Amino acid sequence: MLLRNAFTSAVQQLTDAHVGSPRLNAEILLMFVLNCDRAYLYAHPERELTPDEEARYRKALGRRASGVPSQYITGHQEFWGLDFIVTPAVLIPRPETEHLIAALLPLAKASPRPRIADVGTGSGCIAITLAKELEEAEIYATDISTIALEVARANATRHEQQARIKFQETDLLYGLPFNYFDFIVSNPPYVGESEEEAVQLEVRKHEPRAAVFAGPSGTEVIERLIPEAHAALKPGGWLMMEVSGTIAEQVEGLLRDWGEIKAIPDLQGIPRVIVANKM
Ligand SMILES: C[S@@+](CC[C@H](N)C(=O)[O-])C[C@H]1O[C@@H](n2cnc3c(N)ncnc32)[C@H](O)[C@@H]1O
Repeated sequence: MLLRNAFTSAVQQLTDAHVGSPRLNAEILLMFVLNCDRAYLYAHPERELTPDEEARYRKALGRRASGVPSQYITGHQEFWGLDFIVTPAVLIPRPETEHLIAALLPLAKASPRPRIADVGTGSGCIAITLAKELEEAEIYATDISTIALEVARANATRHEQQARIKFQETDLLYGLPFNYFDFIVSNPPYVGESEEEAVQLEVRKHEPRAAVFAGPSGTEVIERLIPEAHAALKPGGWLMMEVSGTIAEQVEGLLRDWGEIKAIPDLQGIPRVIVANKM
């Protein structure tokens, strides 16, 4: 089959299956199967696909049409300009989480040899980005999931940061030193089970439940994280958490003992990052 025809029928298949952005998805999967970039696709519409390429494209399209996110099919997601390996063991890194990095970097760059903990590291996207951006930083990364940490370690190796990050399998900050850190950063699970119906089906069906849902209300993990972070931070240290617009106000209310509390909005104006200083 010609590349052009394979692409046209893929767009139709994904459209019929009600997959959002069918052209983009058909392109991503064809680039993955042919191991090429977008320019190649458009430069070679007359290229004949081999039977093996056709079979692999058909399989990838079948999975995408059934709702599997393209990142779990290709095994990759870009974050802060870096390529991360993703498997169904980890949340797919989101562009919203880049707001956490943007909020932390100016403060951390002004701090000599900052000590940072990333709680709930998942793919490791936050810890590894910070390791690359802050050459002097000492970085810890925790997760309660053994298999997520395997992915995080693989990503750290891929980006040559494995010696820079201390990965620990633990509940939040349990076992990490007290009064030690300058920054605690986290994109914790923050969706409430009560909001489950409003969560995209693809997320509910395919992303790890423990990475998305915190408990009935959505604030359960954050409620435990705030006092643990207070104990682990040095006086003057910063806690930075990603939140949803639904719980942002509630989270601010949980930070009674903290100073300089700020909610940073995302590009849609929704409060996305809560920053607080340990007084
Ligand atoms: C929303 S995901 C964030 C992953 C990654 N940091 C990112 O931003 O893409 C939350 C992560 O927290 C982890 N997690 C959930 N509960 C935890 C707990 N009690 N202690 C440590 N990690 C936890 C999950 O396994 C998951 O990897």
